[in-house]
Amino acid sequence: MRTPLIAALGLICALPAFAADMPPKPVRLGLCAACHGEKGMAQIPGAPNLAGQRADYLRKALKDYRDGSRNVPLMRAAIGPVSDADLDQLVRWYSAQTPQPQAAAQP
Ligand code: HEC
Repeated sequence: MRTPLIAALGLICALPAFAADMPPKPVRLGLCAACHGEKGMAQIPGAPNLAGQRADYLRKALKDYRDGSRNVPLMRAAIGPVSDADLDQLVRWYSAQTPQPQAAAQP
């Protein structure tokens, strides 16, 4: 008889922990949001969506831009001045976002 009560309490206690899974807003998010959006949905044609992308993939892509092995001047300029700690924050932020439905791309 006490089981449902205990289960309910467990659920309530688990909720704040679930909400806390969202990483803090990165300090350098402003550098990226104009093109990739605050929540990782692209704001300009040609920019990829980042929401929900795997963190290891995002981290590698950004390091590749920074060391030039992925040579896109625009992204090299954007990520160049970002420290490793800030890069990591951005990666965790974008990876934790939920992709949103979007209008079909114009041909
Ligand atoms: C002026 C627009 C612009 C800004 C600002 C910008 N990006 Fe980008 N980003 C792009 C474009 C365009 C691409 C696609 C480049 C390519 O072809 O590799 C891209 C690619 C990426 C990719 C690779 C995605 C993939 O699927 O391979 C990541 C990750 C990324 N950007 C993160 C960031 C972060 C983090 C910032 C902020 C520090 C940032 N970008 C700032 C336009 C921008």
